[in-house]
Amino acid sequence: MTDLRIGAIGCGYWGPNLIRNFIEIPGAQVIAIADLKQESLNRIMERFPQIEVATRDYRDLFDLNLDAVVIATPPAAHYAIARDCMEHGLHVLVEKPITLNSEDAEDLIRIARENEVQLMVGHTFEYNSAVRAIRQMIREGELGEIYYIDAIRASLGLFQTRANVVWDLAPHDISILRYLLDDDPISVNTHGSSCVQEGIEDVAYTTLMFPNNIMAHIRSSWLDPSKQRRITVVGSKKMVIYDDVEPLEKIKIYDKGVKAIRHTDTFGEFSFAYHYGDVVIPYIRFEEPLRVQCQHFLDCINEGKQPQTDGLNGMRVVQVIEAAQRSMKNGGSTVFLNQNGHGDSADALRAEALINV
Ligand SMILES: NC(=O)c1ccc[n+]([C@@H]2O[C@H](COP(=O)([O-])OP(=O)(O)OC[C@H]3O[C@@H](n4cnc5c(N)ncnc54)[C@H](O)[C@@H]3O)[C@@H](O)[C@H]2O)c1
Repeated sequence: MTDLRIGAIGCGYWGPNLIRNFIEIPGAQVIAIADLKQESLNRIMERFPQIEVATRDYRDLFDLNLDAVVIATPPAAHYAIARDCMEHGLHVLVEKPITLNSEDAEDLIRIARENEVQLMVGHTFEYNSAVRAIRQMIREGELGEIYYIDAIRASLGLFQTRANVVWDLAPHDISILRYLLDDDPISVNTHGSSCVQEGIEDVAYTTLMFPNNIMAHIRSSWLDPSKQRRITVVGSKKMVIYDDVEPLEKIKIYDKGVKAIRHTDTFGEFSFAYHYGDVVIPYIRFEEPLRVQCQHFLDCINEGKQPQTDGLNGMRVVQVIEAAQRSMKNGGSTVFLNQNGHGDSADALRAEALINV
């Protein structure tokens, strides 16, 4: 099999990580890079002199007989560039969030289908072995019935000027929650605060209700003294903490729990039976998640299989963010996601119910 010829568009903070991985993985070659800024191109060419073409106009990549592109520009540019590349017959791996609205995401899915190319989104945490291990525990019932999940993604920065913290940080946690629970949320409530820049929320608290009454909470912040990347899953049998900042012991499984026991003699009285068992730190073979993601993209192209984080996956995450955005603008009111994933505010749903009566 000949090597896949890859182009990389967007060489800022994240793009070089994708370029490095595609250079290191056997079976792919990074042929060309594009970025509006000459200094970003120069930095990459110094580091990877084997790249043949560096250009400030990504459309120059269409003349190079490439197979695929990876897009790591700011999200506002994702839609136009991804559409253009797919219409030129290129497979696309686009960073998260796939687009800034779900109509554009839906359009990209259609264009990918019409042009028979792969469309994949960089929801990196779905390729993270720690996240995959927790999903496995949930599926095998090791944690029991899932009560709730708490996700924190906070640090000081990196502040954005065009999108708020929900668009920047929550895509990861929403994609992790959907992946762990294998389901879409039913409703979303988000409260946000713009502390540093007027009109751009830098701190947000999002509550998601999933089927089976599972509650999930996401705290997203660019304004926190310490870097935190933590997910806590609380089940009826066991609890798990996944701490992505920990270098080695990323997952800790707590054999802890509590049962409320109702006294038969005194009506309404409960006592609580606490269980304190071992804490287990399982060995997890850790591979760079971005590497697994890039390898998966190449495999999907070579084998014609559907990516795990395909366009639909990307669109579902965007729909949840749109709902969070609407909730935040309405002071944290509940926004329901209907079966197509579109958000409806409680008032709109109530009005629809009245019309149906
Ligand atoms: N998966 C992850 O864990 C992860 C982590 C960080 C960032 N990201 C995503 O990666 C993307 C890029 O983020 P970043 O932090 O690297 O941003 P950045 O601003 O540092 O870099 C973006 C680069 O794109 C270039 N660019 C903008 N418009 C362009 C165009 N039309 N053609 C060519 N180049 C263009 C800019 O000049 C800049 O160098 C975002 O979508 C972000 O959400 C993903």
